[in-house]
Parts: sequence; C-alpha cells; structure tokens
Amino acid sequence: MSTQSRIAIFASGSGSNAEEIFKYFQGHASIEVVLLLSNNPEAYALERAKKFHIPTLVFNRKQWRESEIVLEWLKEKEITHVVLAGFLWLVPVYLIRAFPGKIINIHPALLPKFGGKGMYGMKVHEAVKASGDTETGITIHEVNEQYDEGKILHQSKCVVTPNDSPNDIAQKIHQLEYVHYPRIIEQWIKSNPF
Ligand code: GAR
Repeated sequence: MSTQSRIAIFASGSGSNAEEIFKYFQGHASIEVVLLLSNNPEAYALERAKKFHIPTLVFNRKQWRESEIVLEWLKEKEITHVVLAGFLWLVPVYLIRAFPGKIINIHPALLPKFGGKGMYGMKVHEAVKASGDTETGITIHEVNEQYDEGKILHQSKCVVTPNDSPNDIAQKIHQLEYVHYPRIIEQWIKSNPF
C-alpha cells in the first residue's frame, strides 16, 4: 500500500480555496492532490486545476445521484481523502459510506448558525449582514449524511462592522479560509491517514 495520502477536491465555482490547497501541498512529502472534480462544466476551479497540471473530471446530477461512477473514478485514482471546497451538492450516502470520516468541508459561517440546505457562498454573507451579527467566521468539519452537521474540526472568527457589505464579509471570510483550510486539512490527514 502506498504511504501517500491522495486527495480529491470537489469544487463547484471559482475554486480559490482549491487553488490555495494545490499550492500548499505542492511538493508535500506525504500528501498529494491528485484530482479536481466538479458538477459545473463552467467552474473556474477547472482552469485553476489545469494550471497546476491536476487532472479534472466533470459529472452531472444523474451520474452523481443515480450511478456510482464518481466513486469508481475515486477508486481508480486510489483517493484516500475527499476535500469539499465550495462544493454545492449534497454528498450521497454511497460516497460517505465509502469514505467514512475521510470527507471534509468548509462552511463560510460559524455553524450551526447560517448552515443547512441552500446556505452557500454569498447567501450566507447576506444572511449574516441581515442578522446584524457583529462577528462571523469559518467552520471546517467532517461531512456526514446531513448538510453542515458533521464533527467540527476548526472554527475561526472575524469582526463584522455595520459598514461591511456582504461582499466585504466574503473577502474577510476568504482570507480566513486561505489561512486555515490547507493547514487543517494537513493536520486532519496526518491524524487520520490513508
Ligand atoms: C467559500 O467561501 C466556501 O466556504 C463556500 O463557498 C465559497 C467558495 O469559494 N462554501 C459553501 O458555502 C458551502 N456551503 P471558492 O470557490 O473561491 O473557493
């Protein structure tokens, strides 16, 4: 058996977190990013992966829900850990069971606040703004069969001022994500290898 941990990243949109993860693990001794998968053929994440010579695969809703083709791809590539980075579809039970405790997600708020179905990206920041909360943050958690309810591995916070627009909040959140997500992924894999 290989001593490398092999990551597949799932991303639906821009993929700026995915890119930070590519950079962080370039040349890493024991962890390699081997695949970027997306449900969205237009996702800029696919372009970012190509720049880093990381193979990409795109799938549609029928493949995701009604077949196990994605699981077959992950097995072919000997994936050991799955990283969700701005991925918007619920992970089906067959994948969670194939990777028990080996799927991680980042959510752009302090769960359990502003989580659940339909809460992603700017919708989260708009809800934070509307709530009048004076702080928000990020949550990195394991994925289980319910949206945003797996074991929390890390949270960090930032201040929300009355002048912050949802876009300003998004920028603060992205900065936190870039600082923490790659290193938490590394810690999590090291304490939970292969
Ligand atoms: C990130 O802020 C991530 O936390 C969020 O989408 C953004 C993707 O940005 N994820 C969710 O909302 C999941 N519920 P990116 O494509 O530039 O990495």
